[in-house]
Amino acid sequence: MNKPIRIALTKGRLEKDTVGLFDKLGFDCTAVHEKGRKLILPIPDANMEVVLAKANDVITYVEHGVCDMGVVGKDTIMEMHGKFFELVDLGFGRCKFALATKKGYDFYSGYGVKTIATKYPNVARNFFEKKGMDTEIIKIEGSVELAPLLELADGIVDIVETGTTLKENGLEVIEDVAPISARLIANTVSLKLRKDEINRLIKLIEENL
Ligand code: PRP
Repeated sequence: MNKPIRIALTKGRLEKDTVGLFDKLGFDCTAVHEKGRKLILPIPDANMEVVLAKANDVITYVEHGVCDMGVVGKDTIMEMHGKFFELVDLGFGRCKFALATKKGYDFYSGYGVKTIATKYPNVARNFFEKKGMDTEIIKIEGSVELAPLLELADGIVDIVETGTTLKENGLEVIEDVAPISARLIANTVSLKLRKDEINRLIKLIEENL
């Protein structure tokens, strides 16, 4: 038998949703369910091996070909780009990128350069470049909602899921930037060398989404 297809999953919610999907496909995910602190787990009956990694690292491992496939959010793909194939929109992990400001703030008025805080500087830069709008982008590591409250930024480009974080902090969406969901990606060489196995998996997944 060929060596197992290695698939890197983004630890946390996307991991759980993907393993749920594999369960639904009838794969034996016992090792993943009983993983403890292990990071590489076999799914023997599907000749697969699951690797648990942080979102950015999923892309790094797939790009370098040490993992054949990966499951990662469109948010990470949009921020990192990279050389790999995006194969399937898995439909889970749905949320969006949005531009938000303090409630009632007239973001598009005035001529001064606006300051944007974000964990996703490339996404924010592209969004405003497309508008032909000059902005200063400040990278923040988390709880980006703080930046306008502390008056570091006029607005934020961030992930919005339920909208609760914005609401509870007196902020509001003024524009959607892009929809987000989990994507199945593959290494470009793996896709050629293991075409049949990968296509079989894609077909199974698409039939069960
Ligand atoms: C994300 C995002 C928002 C929040 C949105 O943060 O950056 O802060 O979730 O979710 P909501 O619309 O359902 O309220 P995360 O929990 O990943 O934490 P972080 O900002 O500290 O990275």
